Amino acid sequence: MKLETVSIRNRPAPDALVVFALAVEGGAPDLSTVPKELRDAAAAACPSKIGAEGALCTVPLPGGAAKRLYVFGAGKKARISGRKARGILRSVAKTVGKNGETSVEVDFPFVLERMNAEESRDFLLRNLALADYAFRTYKTGDKEEPTLTSGWFRPDRGPWRGVDGRVAARETGAAEAVVGIERLVRELGNTPSNDMTPRIFASRIEKEGKARGIPVKVLDRKAIEKERMGGLLAVSRGSAEEPRLVVLEYRGGKEDEPPVALVGKGITFDSGGISIKPSEKMGEMKWDMMGAATAVGVVLAAADLKLPVNVVAVTPLAENLPSGTAYKPGDIVRFRNGKTAEIDNTDAEGRVILADALDYAKEWKPAAILDYATLTGAALVALGLEAAVVFTDRDDLSRDLVRAGERTDERLWRLPLWEEYKENIKSDWADFKNTGGRWGGSINGAMFLKEFVDETTPWAHLDIAPTANYDHEHAGYPTGATSFGVALTLRWLKDRHEGRGRSKKAGRR
Ligand code: BES
Ligand code: MN
Ligand code: ZN
Repeated sequence: MKLETVSIRNRPAPDALVVFALAVEGGAPDLSTVPKELRDAAAAACPSKIGAEGALCTVPLPGGAAKRLYVFGAGKKARISGRKARGILRSVAKTVGKNGETSVEVDFPFVLERMNAEESRDFLLRNLALADYAFRTYKTGDKEEPTLTSGWFRPDRGPWRGVDGRVAARETGAAEAVVGIERLVRELGNTPSNDMTPRIFASRIEKEGKARGIPVKVLDRKAIEKERMGGLLAVSRGSAEEPRLVVLEYRGGKEDEPPVALVGKGITFDSGGISIKPSEKMGEMKWDMMGAATAVGVVLAAADLKLPVNVVAVTPLAENLPSGTAYKPGDIVRFRNGKTAEIDNTDAEGRVILADALDYAKEWKPAAILDYATLTGAALVALGLEAAVVFTDRDDLSRDLVRAGERTDERLWRLPLWEEYKENIKSDWADFKNTGGRWGGSINGAMFLKEFVDETTPWAHLDIAPTANYDHEHAGYPTGATSFGVALTLRWLKDRHEGRGRSKKAGRR
């Protein structure tokens, strides 16, 4: 649904007006979270258990502030987590949408954990707009067109209390811009690999860059050969689809200011290659390009928001398939920087393509490098579905990223990158090998990547395998791609520019 900008004075009457009731042990429902003028109507029409989480009651409001009042039970707490709020907004959108309502006003009385008022507004606006998100491209018989076309939050309530109308309008516009990108990022991921090959991904980003007047460079196979990107070439060799490397650059900062480089893993399908994966759930590996989608998404969003920063996305794209031309276990590949790696397992392909891309990113002399990758199943084993892993040797960068994640509900948890782990990726034949055994699987992947970044450049690796996509509705997200990482990175970029994080200083070293 589209976000509408409304003010107290100029507020259209929505189809559905959504308010929340809290539960009180044993007693009557606590309607103090319901706007005063609606309490009587709610109390008269709703059962006493209306505060219970998941409870719902609807009240017609003929001639009133809306066609219909929806009272949702929200449980006992008025202070809730971001993911709970996301889930609430999603069930609100589902419920009113099912009833055929076209517009919704949400009265949001809660305080969000870990977010200040401005962060809460940004979070709520984006998650309301995305609350009815569904990937419908391939549903030809689906006549269940969404009825909800517009939504907004009740002004002067919750985190909007005392917020000037002009500020609210500006924030709504910014949220809408980011939502457009989050939709794009999800679409890139949810589109199946037959329609999202490296070439298709690259030409789509070319189009998006052109539409914004920002430069896009696409390296085709010949150009990749010329760059001697042996890792990217090796992984793509098993597929009839050619590799690509996309560079998307936005310069909104000072001309002489080095950019932040965002490197993203773009495996459009990961079968494992010769070290083939079990067939169960292999289809999920169409999301193995979410790192690349996140990296380009952030750059496009920075452009749309006109952020005063310089940022460049570098995304290697390939398909990992077994065939007579595929790279094989035991092979030794030589990367762009001259280092070599023994391929122990062709399913550890992400690090092999990222190695060349991280090295290539050096050409921009970046102030900092972040990389995003659905790199290891071990990250899921370690953290479950609630956080992505962050690896970095810089305490300040780790702290800034973790904080940005807390304030966008895109949470990160740090794991170590100690030299001791380097032992795991030792090879008898090459500089290192692309696996490190079962223990510390996620760390071993990060240690491999570390070999391709300059010690003097602050670098963080985000293993987003746990959070990039879900195979069921979770944490208020729909099934499929989540666009995790976009909001977190935009927050970090803004903080960094405003000098709120200390990694800016580190970046100048
Ligand atoms: N894309 C996978 C990682 C993955 C697994 C992401 C499950 C999301 C869900 C990656 O390319 C991979 O296959 N990694 C291997 C590495 C191993 C062979 C060292 C893994 O995690 O098993
Ligand atoms: Mn793999
Ligand atoms: Zn993979």
